[in-house]
Amino acid sequence: MTAAETSVFQSAFRPGLPPPAPRFTGLPRYNFVYGHNDPSQVPAHELADAASAVLNANGHLLGMYNLGQGPQGHKGLREFVAAKLGTRSGIPCTADDVLLTSGSLQGMDLVNGVLVGPGDTVILEEFTYGGAISKVQRLGAKVVAAPLDGDGIRMDALRRILERLRGEGVTPKYIYTIPTVQNPTGTIMPLARRHELLNLSREFGVPIFEDECYADLVWEGSRPPALYALDPAQVVHIGSFSKSLAPALRIGYLVAQWPVLSQIIGTKTDAGSGALEQMVVAEYLRDNFDTHVTELTATLHGKLETIVDALAQEFGTAVEMFVPKGGIFLWLKLPDHVDVRTFAQAALQQGLAFNPGPEWACDPEAAKSHIRLCFALPTKEDIRAGVAELARISFEHTGVPERSANRARA
Ligand SMILES: Cc1ncc(COP(=O)(O)O)c(C=O)c1O
Repeated sequence: MTAAETSVFQSAFRPGLPPPAPRFTGLPRYNFVYGHNDPSQVPAHELADAASAVLNANGHLLGMYNLGQGPQGHKGLREFVAAKLGTRSGIPCTADDVLLTSGSLQGMDLVNGVLVGPGDTVILEEFTYGGAISKVQRLGAKVVAAPLDGDGIRMDALRRILERLRGEGVTPKYIYTIPTVQNPTGTIMPLARRHELLNLSREFGVPIFEDECYADLVWEGSRPPALYALDPAQVVHIGSFSKSLAPALRIGYLVAQWPVLSQIIGTKTDAGSGALEQMVVAEYLRDNFDTHVTELTATLHGKLETIVDALAQEFGTAVEMFVPKGGIFLWLKLPDHVDVRTFAQAALQQGLAFNPGPEWACDPEAAKSHIRLCFALPTKEDIRAGVAELARISFEHTGVPERSANRARA
């Protein structure tokens, strides 16, 4: 028996907990998992200057919870978020509509906390952020998968789902969507479809939970207005600086109309998210966000080109790639008979980490041949070497790909 199993806590743990976390044993050599950013793009020196400036000017404010600026967080950063959402996402809002959170993951917990309980039903995109699936499953909610195509949720299918649920007397708690650079498929929902989605939301009385984690990293620069911009009464909106600046900062935000926001603030019991990072980021972003995001997006796009090229070289026609319209992930599919779970663990043991599709799908079997690769963290050299490793390990376990760089594998 381990020390934990004999400890006084073992019998005190409440039932239904997730499995305990494994100990961290270091990062894999080729790391294509999670949503890490490109370390070379973190503006470390500029953030250091910003930290020095804000601490010298306003460091004394740290003597008060929330800097004395109320439970929604740093006023200047909320003003920046409101202005950014106005210009980039078409959302007319003010600092009073914004709640700063410890990453958008906390935003998800807060939204789930006021809406979802055991036995409730939520609608998620058939392939979606793994964290969104596990969070509602842990709450004991039932997940219904909304089919996707190249423009996001299919409205004909969503209508059928909503009608079926209505027939069963079920009103889902929300429809969770990542409309702008969907995770993992990388699509952007066009404007007309956003209107259709909102029409269905109104017709069936189901709120929309909009997650715009990647919306500032669009290759084309502009994107359709956020769902929240089109009908704020139907939508709660979350976003993050994890992907547009740095994930370890843990700064996210939630935007909602006051009846919803006030309910959510009432459940945020952490006495405020980290204020020093909010001060520093507000100072840095005020004059630098647009330039920073333009450079970051160009760098990420360059890495996408590298990974697409490497996959084409190593896998040839054995891989179907869903080339994203922005962001940091490439979703891909191997032939139907390949189950990527058969070699994910072996790959990890050999220093290569990727996200098996089943972890990013409401129905794991539906994505058994899919893989999600995050291309932001590795260098271009590591992307090429890592994809070559992936092809080697995949071939060893599944016989796919038969050919790499136009040569048969033996
Ligand atoms: C769609 C989506 N939402 C939310 C998050 C959580 O991000 P954070 O808590 O770092 O803001 C992620 C992280 O990868 C994500 O992909």
